[in-house]
Amino acid sequence: MPQTHEAPTTYDLVVVSNRLPVDRSASSDGSDEWTRSPGGLVTALHPIMQRNGGAWVGWHGAPDEQLEDFDHDGMRLVPVPLSAAEVSTYYEGFSNGTLWPLFHDVIAPPEYHRTWWEAYRDVNQRFARECARVAGPGATVWIQDYQLLLVPALLRQLRPDVKIGFFLHIPFPPAELFAQLPWRREVLEGMIGATLVGFQRQSDTANFLRCVRRFAQRPVKNKRIDVEMSDGRIRHVRAETFPISIDTDVIKRLAQDPDIRQRAATIRESLGGRKVILGVDRLDYTKGIRHRIKAYGELLNDGTINVEDAALIQVASPSRERVSSYIQLREDVELAVGRINGNFDTLEHTAIRYLHHSYPMDEMVALYLAADVMLVTALRDGMNLVAKEYVASRQDETGVLVLSEFAGAADELGAAVLTNPHDIEGMKEDIVRALTMTPEESARRMKKLRKQVLANDIDRWSATFLENLDDAATASLTQTGA
Ligand code: G6P
Repeated sequence: MPQTHEAPTTYDLVVVSNRLPVDRSASSDGSDEWTRSPGGLVTALHPIMQRNGGAWVGWHGAPDEQLEDFDHDGMRLVPVPLSAAEVSTYYEGFSNGTLWPLFHDVIAPPEYHRTWWEAYRDVNQRFARECARVAGPGATVWIQDYQLLLVPALLRQLRPDVKIGFFLHIPFPPAELFAQLPWRREVLEGMIGATLVGFQRQSDTANFLRCVRRFAQRPVKNKRIDVEMSDGRIRHVRAETFPISIDTDVIKRLAQDPDIRQRAATIRESLGGRKVILGVDRLDYTKGIRHRIKAYGELLNDGTINVEDAALIQVASPSRERVSSYIQLREDVELAVGRINGNFDTLEHTAIRYLHHSYPMDEMVALYLAADVMLVTALRDGMNLVAKEYVASRQDETGVLVLSEFAGAADELGAAVLTNPHDIEGMKEDIVRALTMTPEESARRMKKLRKQVLANDIDRWSATFLENLDDAATASLTQTGA
């Protein structure tokens, strides 16, 4: 590293996530060009970061490449390198082969490998060091999600002066499942390095507090954990629920765009004026795609739905394609879709339009506008933002959302048709109910859903989290007498 005499630049707000919120492409002169990725989190935090001088620490998505920090769109981006071996052990291994299935009710069996754990610890240490390097004195550092569970405590060791918040975007499992994790105590100790730990649902917060009491043997009172420090003083950690949302203004604006509305009409025409049922998911076993397709196939088979009257569009965006459970899932889904289409397609009509692609938000909103019924049938999901995006796009209050009880969104969106995706018979009835609902009933439900989603957008979510972090940090200091 070249030595410079300039004071190092530091930032008052540092956000940390496994991935940086940018996508890379090559510009015409061959240099890297970065564009902000469409995620809601960066959209919400971007103005705050621009105002307060913010840095984002994360992996830029390619292995074996060390990039310098750079400025982009008013934010400082701090790329954390990962070797190809770490992509396989830390990212595909411990993050997505151990924690992801364990935290999603063991829908796929989690694997416990010591080498994965060691890589996870090392990479979390690297993220913590980068945060410590760029955080200004007393800065706020907000750590995101399950890939970085150890960063709060590691960062606290390096920088006890900063305010550390952590938010888990996925569910926190019940103690009976979390108990399996060989490193359960270390993981909990990692998380309670933060002063505020946030979750999507009340049940996640409750599960976490139970685990802290049971496996870290820390005193827990209401939603406060007491952590004894090396000097004998007590530090207070708060656990709270902050259901995440979407950038409703962006979706509303796209839903009014004449080109996008025209595109929605074209999609409907291309399906021959049939009722349109839509599923949009990352191709992930937590999303209940197999269950949904099974239910749909049975409805076609028993003649309840006719291919001349309805079409299912299933967008399945490619995800984690080298992890074995995802490879298996893709085969299962594509086999099931192929069989159903083989049995029920006519020369004019396809039963299921299966699209293994990612689409930009414009096209997603066109699909939402084209869909009479939206199916969100996750077996377990932290929140599910697709459900909220569908609702935000339906300005004319038409359309029916069928929503799994196992998605975090179900806590807020009780006016949807709630469904249990494990109950295939029940889910079939719910799909039919959605398809045959009177316009009065669907409008009544959509009105309620929209009221909820529009009143709680991502700006409000991030502002609430950061305010609570300030309060928790003040209370923690006051009560420890520091
Ligand atoms: C979920 C996780 C995120 C993750 C995203 C995409 O939403 O909560 O942390 O970034 O999936 O997965 P990927 O493995 O491609 O980053």
